[in-house]
Amino acid sequence: MVNKTMFISDKKSVMSEKKYKWHKVAESKEELFSSGHVLQEVIVGQKTICIGIYQDRLFGCAHKCPHAGGRMAAGWLDAMGNIVCPLHRYRFNTSNGRNVSGEGYYLKTYPVETREEGVFIGLEENKGWL
Ligand code: FES
Repeated sequence: MVNKTMFISDKKSVMSEKKYKWHKVAESKEELFSSGHVLQEVIVGQKTICIGIYQDRLFGCAHKCPHAGGRMAAGWLDAMGNIVCPLHRYRFNTSNGRNVSGEGYYLKTYPVETREEGVFIGLEENKGWL
C-alpha cells in the first residue's frame, strides 16, 4: 500500500530541487533600467528573456507571450505588478507566470538575483532548450 503523505512529500522535495545555471546579464539593475522603462530584453546565450522590475524586485519571464507571441518587453506593469501583454492585454503574475486575467495561459518565469558582481538570471540545468 502506498503512503500518500509520503508520496506527496517526496514529490515536493523533487520539485524544489531545481538546479540553475546563473548567467550575468548586467553590472547592476541601474544599468539594466537606465532607459527608464521597467521591462527590458536580455540575451542569454541564444535565448532572449524579458527582465523587469516592480517595487525594487527583479523578475524574469519569457520574452514572447504564450497567447500569440506578443513582445512582453513592449508591454507594461499594472498596479498590482502583473505584466501586461501589449497585443491583447492578457495579464501574468511575474512571480509564478499565472495568467491572472483568466484566459488559461502560463508565462514561463526565470529567477533573477542581484549580487555584488551584477544581475544574474537562472536557467534550469538540463533544460537548455527552454
Ligand atoms: S499575444 Fe499576448 S495577449 Fe495575445
